[in-house]
Amino acid sequence: MTRYIAAIDQGTTSSRCMIFDHNGRAVTSAQQEHRQIFPQAGWVEHDASEIWTTTREVVATALAKRDLTNADIAAVGITNQRETTVVWDRTTGEPVYNAIVWQDTRTDQLCTELAGDRGPDRYRSTTGLPLSTYFSGPKLRWILDNVDGVRDRAEAGDLCFGTMDSWILWNLTGGVTGGVHATDVTNASRTMLMDLRTLEWDEQICADMRIPMSLLPQIRSSSGVFGTARERGNLAGVPVAGILGDQQAATFGQACLSPGEAKNTYGTGNFLLLNTGTEPVQSEHGLLTTVCYRIGDAAPVYALEGSIAVTGSLVQWLRDNLGIINSAKEVELLASAVPDNGGAYIVPAFSGLFAPRWRPDARGAIVGLTRFVNKGHLARAALEATAFQTREVIEAAAADSGVALTSLKVDGGMVLNETLMQFQADILDVPVIRPVVNETTALGAAYAAGLAVGYWDSEDDIRANWEVGRTWTPNMPADERGRLYREWNKAVERTYDWAD
Ligand code: G3P
Repeated sequence: MTRYIAAIDQGTTSSRCMIFDHNGRAVTSAQQEHRQIFPQAGWVEHDASEIWTTTREVVATALAKRDLTNADIAAVGITNQRETTVVWDRTTGEPVYNAIVWQDTRTDQLCTELAGDRGPDRYRSTTGLPLSTYFSGPKLRWILDNVDGVRDRAEAGDLCFGTMDSWILWNLTGGVTGGVHATDVTNASRTMLMDLRTLEWDEQICADMRIPMSLLPQIRSSSGVFGTARERGNLAGVPVAGILGDQQAATFGQACLSPGEAKNTYGTGNFLLLNTGTEPVQSEHGLLTTVCYRIGDAAPVYALEGSIAVTGSLVQWLRDNLGIINSAKEVELLASAVPDNGGAYIVPAFSGLFAPRWRPDARGAIVGLTRFVNKGHLARAALEATAFQTREVIEAAAADSGVALTSLKVDGGMVLNETLMQFQADILDVPVIRPVVNETTALGAAYAAGLAVGYWDSEDDIRANWEVGRTWTPNMPADERGRLYREWNKAVERTYDWAD
């Protein structure tokens, strides 16, 4: 009997394979980082071939750690950094250019042109998204316009476009030639090319962006058999039965399965998703409308999303660019050595500001500096920036939905940071709750795959597996909370109108 479900989590900084049992507990995992390529200011790329190699390696390593083989795995699910755009040759499988990462801002001018007189909300009612460098459509257009010969090859039908899920699926299900060219509704909803209601590619938007539709993958449900893994990925014969963008996967793994339930993931960036049920709700406060998941033939479930571009990656920046810490973990040690931020605020508008402000013209700033401020205060200001930005998107979600949050479910790497989580509870004035299984992104993809092959019977199994691990309760006087948040807002306004 096959005992486990595998999940491939292809993230912004690393790829991971986790293998789960029926209780939703991880039995083994492996992880590998890949290179971040910064060809010039504002540009961020990944080598898609490197990502496929590290993906195969982490699958092999995770299986080997527990002496497992493909025969032990009932299904595999894929979850991924969203929006990141790859174009490859249908015959050779060679990418035509590096993957353009979601954080990359090279399409700024193109987005302004597309917005024209109609403004950045030109496609919002169809796609749920404002025109922004964040999404895949403009990135794909950039590749078509700027990489030699690519437009001709695309028009001849020789190329495939995909987000990372499609790239991994195509490779995993491929033999010598390629495999299944598909994506799921959640990833498709981040391209700016899909109609949220019909769940199909929108011909008019593709025409406006000059994107040949032959490039696009087939859009399918998040849970269902996409194909069978071939020999190239150590999982030969295993059905690939679930795909979800990483934030939607975390929402599913956190069992936010009813309208009004929300989670916040602390990764490279932060992403708050609020389940709004089977009707897409248009945001009036700077959030995105996105597909949350679709299980088989059931109605799609939608979410409002507050996407924050830079949170965990600010800690990496302190480590890699400023060198004030040697490891990401050290940030907590440094931050907890001081009682407060010493008056300093860091606004990490490295890619402009995403939700709820959508200011592509903003650039990062450190304000409130005096001779008194030391690296402890800066470490603390970096953590606080994460919590302040989270409060902004939570306030927007409350304004859109009319429902104030009474607690916040959290997950992701940074939620191991006690100082940050306590400050988060303090600045929100609601309890913050981390589940026992913190790896909810991989778990959500495993659930989607496991439901499709009958390993789990229904969403009730997901609810039953979810358990509280740790709770932080707010403990800050209201006037201090008010002062800090006011000062944060002043700091953010200092970052506007910086870039052209
Ligand atoms: O939209 C971008 C998001 O999917 C990236 O998530 O966890 O890879 O930073 P993460």
